[in-house]
Amino acid sequence: MLRAVLLGPPGAGKGTQAAKVIEKYNVPHISTGDIFRANIKEGTELGKKAQGYINEGKLVPDELVVDLVTDRLQQDDCKDGFLLDGFPRTILQAEQLDEFLSKNGQKLDIVLNFKVRKDVLVERISGRRVCKACGASFHVVNVPPKKEGICDRCGGELIQRKDDNRETVENRINVYESETAVLIGYYEKQGVLVDFDGEKSHEEVFADVVKAIEAK
Ligand code: AP5
Repeated sequence: MLRAVLLGPPGAGKGTQAAKVIEKYNVPHISTGDIFRANIKEGTELGKKAQGYINEGKLVPDELVVDLVTDRLQQDDCKDGFLLDGFPRTILQAEQLDEFLSKNGQKLDIVLNFKVRKDVLVERISGRRVCKACGASFHVVNVPPKKEGICDRCGGELIQRKDDNRETVENRINVYESETAVLIGYYEKQGVLVDFDGEKSHEEVFADVVKAIEAK
């Protein structure tokens, strides 16, 4: 049983750690960014509405995000836990998540907060490659795939995300600082926040994450 949120700026390693956490704890990975990208790929109404915001590095409006997540949390596979990645991102989203959980007699066990300096974030994001098929995340230098351009997990093609160009990355980091970083204090007050040095290697970060989850 694990109900957790991954918090941190773009490029902090949320997706990288999510893949390891869900494998170890067997909970569904709910990434709002992945859900939006899948909708954009499929050309759905939601995808059309979200695309412009995402390409400019802005947040998608709260009203398009909250129902999406709370609907997902009502599915059977979330009964015994979940890992939220990229949600909540505003105080309003966090309050609505709390409201939803408390109505269902649930609460968050832990919020994992990854701290990484801005110049490191930019370097990581510009070197990131993601699998077109399964979404797995790699880095050309730090986390290289075994075979260049090919996903280790499923053999799919590795590509660069549209919002991973330098200008959009700067916007995304600014938006994180102005709208999302305030959640650190929000969850600190609830006593569920744990900070991690996200600049350690991804294996070391994961070891720290497991220790913190076990301690809860
Ligand atoms: P989203 O998909 O959530 O993107 P993000 O938060 O910007 O985060 P990233 O996916 O860029 O980074 P990450 O922390 O997962 O890092 P990763 O593990 O890949 O959101 C995209 C957009 O959707 C938003 O801009 C917004 O428009 C919209 N959106 C989504 N949710 C929303 C919401 N709730 N409300 C409103 N709008 C929303 O790692 C990065 C790179 O570093 C990789 O190459 C990786 O291999 C490498 N790396 C990872 N860990 C390490 C390490 N320890 N050492 C060295 N390299 C590492």
